[in-house]
Amino acid sequence: MSTIAPPAPAEATPEAARAPARPQTGESPGPASAPAHLGLPPGPRLPVTAQTILVWNRSVHFLKLCQLRYGPVFTIRALPWGRAVVINDSALVKQIFTGDPAVYHAGDGNSLLAPVLGERSVLVLDEDAHLQARKRLLPPFHGDSVRRYGEVVEHIVSEEIARWPLGEPFSLHPRMRAITLEVILQAVIGVTEGERARALREVLPSTVEIGPTIMAMWVYEGLERFGRWRRYRQHVAEANRLLREEIAARRCDERLEQREDVLSQLVRAGETDDEELRDQIMTLLLAGHETTTTGLAWALERLLRHPEILARAREGDDDYLDAVVKETLRVRPVIPAVLRQLQAPVELGGWQIPAGVTVMPSISLMHADATLFPEPERFRPERFLEDGAGSTYTWIPFGGGRRRCLGAAFASFEMRVALRTILQQTTLRAERARDERVRSHHITLVPARGARVVRES
Ligand code: HEM
Repeated sequence: MSTIAPPAPAEATPEAARAPARPQTGESPGPASAPAHLGLPPGPRLPVTAQTILVWNRSVHFLKLCQLRYGPVFTIRALPWGRAVVINDSALVKQIFTGDPAVYHAGDGNSLLAPVLGERSVLVLDEDAHLQARKRLLPPFHGDSVRRYGEVVEHIVSEEIARWPLGEPFSLHPRMRAITLEVILQAVIGVTEGERARALREVLPSTVEIGPTIMAMWVYEGLERFGRWRRYRQHVAEANRLLREEIAARRCDERLEQREDVLSQLVRAGETDDEELRDQIMTLLLAGHETTTTGLAWALERLLRHPEILARAREGDDDYLDAVVKETLRVRPVIPAVLRQLQAPVELGGWQIPAGVTVMPSISLMHADATLFPEPERFRPERFLEDGAGSTYTWIPFGGGRRRCLGAAFASFEMRVALRTILQQTTLRAERARDERVRSHHITLVPARGARVVRES
């Protein structure tokens, strides 16, 4: 895959390694400043394999240790990126998010997913093609548009709650997964009942469950003839067939004008052909399903360990619930980092970073920075209400700039409505008082025990 830069050592000189951490401003030096250092910022000298294992399995701890040792900008060497410069500095995050999209590519890094998302997926495109696709997709995801899904979400959550057992422990994570899948099916794709809806419900979850084992088949093509890889290919083919049928049926649906789901809005706008629609629907499913699932599971995991915050959230005030959602995504970010692959050399924080290197604003490190969020380990939604915490370049669970999560308003709204419904219709307690550990699951950071709870009423 062309996007994987071959691993090479960070060119850390002993002097650079001892250099003090750059101040939080991180502004690029002006003309009178000292020239930029050539090469990459220092970073751990562990072998690539060790760093790869650490960054995929223990990313929060590993990156925190690196930051303590090297400061807010350091280089790691790990697959699949090769050399990656990790950033915990709001001015540098701003520089990256507002930088030239021809220089800071995000789509390249996702191109491994093209076999399932399609070549025209907004996630795998860059520059002008990306911007055009994003513009076509944006209208149904605006803040005002997403509010129309309130009743749908409430209804789906109530139906799901009715299946939860009383008095015995269970994991919330799979329950949240069932909710967010149904929300995507109904609010995004617009299917509720019938044979095709049933078939989509069955096949879509396994289509978007993509870990390193499945990805291996896109690197070693021969694998797709065997076992789980063969089954996966069959699932994708079946999902594609069903989605194409659904799109064709929607075009001649006599109720098209009244329908409010995202797919119908895109069909009505008339700017996207059927194949692109398939690519984008698959993309929305992949990008929106597991992420929102995990955000919801963490929100409940945190709330159930903070009785006073739980009591206030139960009152159902929109602003407070919004702050709970924000604080959850701050203290337990679902995605640990944002990635951009440099297409040209860039000066960043006094370093001259060569083309081909990936720069990684670290969501986990930014959100755990005590200078930005005092007492960062504490779960305290009030910080977003009373202290005015978080700004475009410090609270970044949805990334930023032209690549900022397209579903951010949708996900925040869905989380708010789902939480309100769950808190009003059930009484839950955590199975154990201890906080659940953060565990890596593919590209997300999930509660290690799946957010175990007992339902009391
Ligand atoms: C809590 C839930 C979610 C989180 C934490 C999340 C996080 C992210 C992040 C970090 C990115 C990368 C941004 C960047 O590179 O700057 C992203 C991109 C994206 N997300 Fe989300 N996301 C969530 C929910 C959703 C939902 C519900 C949808 C749609 C239904 C969605 C659709 C997308 C799309 C299409 C992109 C690619 C945008 C582009 O490249 O222009 N996400 N998301």
